[in-house]
Amino acid sequence: MERIKDDSFQNLGISVYIKRDDLIHPVISGNKWRKLKYNIQTIIDGQHTEVISFGGPYSNHLLALAEVCVIYNIKLHAYIRGSIDHSNPAIIFLQSKKVHLHSLDYSDYRKRNDPAFIDVLMSHHTDNAYFVPEGGNNEIAQKGLKELADELKEQIAAIDCITIPIGTASSINALKQFMSSTVRVEGYCIFTDAQNRKQKSLMEHAVYNGSDIVCDYNFGGLGSYPDDLLEFIKSFKQRTGIILDRSYNAKMMFGLYERIHQKKYPEGSNIVAVNTGGNFVDKLQA
Ligand SMILES: Cc1ncc(COP(=O)(O)O)c(C=O)c1O
Repeated sequence: MERIKDDSFQNLGISVYIKRDDLIHPVISGNKWRKLKYNIQTIIDGQHTEVISFGGPYSNHLLALAEVCVIYNIKLHAYIRGSIDHSNPAIIFLQSKKVHLHSLDYSDYRKRNDPAFIDVLMSHHTDNAYFVPEGGNNEIAQKGLKELADELKEQIAAIDCITIPIGTASSINALKQFMSSTVRVEGYCIFTDAQNRKQKSLMEHAVYNGSDIVCDYNFGGLGSYPDDLLEFIKSFKQRTGIILDRSYNAKMMFGLYERIHQKKYPEGSNIVAVNTGGNFVDKLQA
């Protein structure tokens, strides 16, 4: 946990901290580690030698899982959304980790959470193959996300607001569930409305869950990184030494800065921004 020192925050009477989950591991970082931790334990305990999962062509989840599988000598079968572009550095990384890549067309990929579809897929693999859903979002992942909430409570006694980027919304939902109801949990949605509908995002659950969702800082959605966002990443690094990933955390932090300056938070607020990692994929693309 680090405090962000910024005179403008001090002048407004706001304290901003950043939870450096990006520092957990160079590849298995942030919420990927939180979600995978107890899945890995289950894989080891169950002596599973094969893991099956899903992801988009730049999936942070698949990169992290591939790294884990190398460490524990587990065979990973990754079902990729759309055709496999062998010049994509994330795909090249997966191949370097000996991941077995399978392409799924968009209509099949949409069935990734359908139990019947998953059963058919699993029938192509060994009996003790272990399934991890897209993004690592399963029941077991909740245990790791609860540990994040417990650490936050331990590190800052009086948190008023936690901010976190939203993809599938499983991380924000867990924080909302595991933090005290007096803490406001604010999610920054990185998809456009159209992308949300296409991805069948779980974001609606976050809304029902009582979280505050900020949708004004998606910067054109997943895969869009306009110049003002890239400039912000540069200046944030100069000011703090922290390199934000451009898909999730830079968008959240840009929004948080702007909202603080718009006086959206009461004077005296303690705000904790969770850095969910993910800049490994940016490094691969650099
Ligand atoms: C780096 C990073 N941060 C945040 C998220 C969003 O987390 P969630 O899908 O739990 O909302 C993701 C993935 O979706 C991610 O890769």
